[in-house]
Amino acid sequence: MPIIAVIGAQWGDEGKGKVVDLLAEKAQVVVRFSGGDNAGHTIVNHHGEFGLHLVPSGIFYPGVNCIIGNGVAINPAVLLDEIDQLQGNGVDTSGLFISDRAHLIMPYHTLLDGLEEQSRGGKAIGTTRKGIGPAFADKTARLGIRIGELLDEEAFLERLRPILEYKNTILNKIYGATPLSLDEVYQQYCRYGERLVPLIRETTVMLAEALDRNEIIILEGAQGTLLDPDFGTYPYTTSSSPLAGGGCVGAGLGPTRIDRVLGIFKSYCTRVGGGPMPTELKDETGDLIRERAHEYGTTTGRPRRCGWFDGVAARYSSRVNGLTNVALTRLDVLDTLPQIKICTGYKLDGQTIDHFPGSITTLAKCKPVYEELPGWQSPTSDIRDYEKLPAQAKQYITRLEGLISCPVSIISVGARREQTIHKTPIL
Ligand code: IMP
Repeated sequence: MPIIAVIGAQWGDEGKGKVVDLLAEKAQVVVRFSGGDNAGHTIVNHHGEFGLHLVPSGIFYPGVNCIIGNGVAINPAVLLDEIDQLQGNGVDTSGLFISDRAHLIMPYHTLLDGLEEQSRGGKAIGTTRKGIGPAFADKTARLGIRIGELLDEEAFLERLRPILEYKNTILNKIYGATPLSLDEVYQQYCRYGERLVPLIRETTVMLAEALDRNEIIILEGAQGTLLDPDFGTYPYTTSSSPLAGGGCVGAGLGPTRIDRVLGIFKSYCTRVGGGPMPTELKDETGDLIRERAHEYGTTTGRPRRCGWFDGVAARYSSRVNGLTNVALTRLDVLDTLPQIKICTGYKLDGQTIDHFPGSITTLAKCKPVYEELPGWQSPTSDIRDYEKLPAQAKQYITRLEGLISCPVSIISVGARREQTIHKTPIL
């Protein structure tokens, strides 16, 4: 039975939540493997509309085990809020588990994220200010605290004491901020622990057992490939890997176990925060897309930068993830446009290039080379059968498949579960 990794293939916000929610119907396990509550996965189903930040999108199916993997950084206050909201809406959360190795976002992480951004001035990354960068920096610097450490309160205090002292020095001496109280942070996290400790497991064992039972496991990505610290537009990136490879590390599975890598692409591009975006439209078409698709961040409410589909970035994303299938979302957003452009190359210093540069200075100089296709100018939201799509829409999809070198299996034409066209089977 397959393990399928569901990966954001652009700059995040591609609609992974909806796709995972759809696929989870056939799965037994869904694992979030990277990021933290910087992610916002919007899901609309019979329970209502939810903006999930940490809980895997499979939670709406009773019997599906939802794991927050070791690769996630958890803000316990956000997680508990999310659990309360789900339960308040009648969603059974008894299948939710957390890896003992997942790192905690501490109050100094969120404080430092804001202070660091402020100090960058005009060069701010535009982070979500959820403490993600500082938490993953601490993980790598071996200064992080893992959720499993809440199992032993005394040991947790001994670990927290010197770390907090060090963080307070930075907060106070560098940024002039008020130091945090050891007792308050300790008590607060012990209280979180009282509710979260029962959910903590050695989740790699759970996954191994699920594999032994031949179950379907979905690795749920967060953010997108172009925000990866290695392969994204560094330093305008996030701080953990949203790639399929990150899925192995962030869940605790070997790469040989993954059978399918499903890349989620919007039918156009969006980006939140700073950093280059070659196909950005700073005109009325960009505004039209933003308003029609309500392109505002689920986590921060910030307006998203909108632009045409970037075929160069898409091909690159397909390559570094090893995509086997594509889900194309929000096709309906393009329904009214008379003409649709696709970027097929970049013009750089008089030459046309077809690869995505590693340097943002170079990328910022790239001008998109466009191919123009006719729009279909008719509604697609009620279509469920690929053959019933307008000819121009099929032409657009076929051209994208050619550029990405990967078949489109799912087409999403609206936020609701049923507003989906299954072109070729994945599971
Ligand atoms: P951070 O992950 O909060 O540190 O933010 C770093 C960059 O990633 C910023 O440009 C954010 O806007 C972007 N980012 C982080 N999470 C998401 C997401 O879920 N969707 C889109 N962009 C994101």
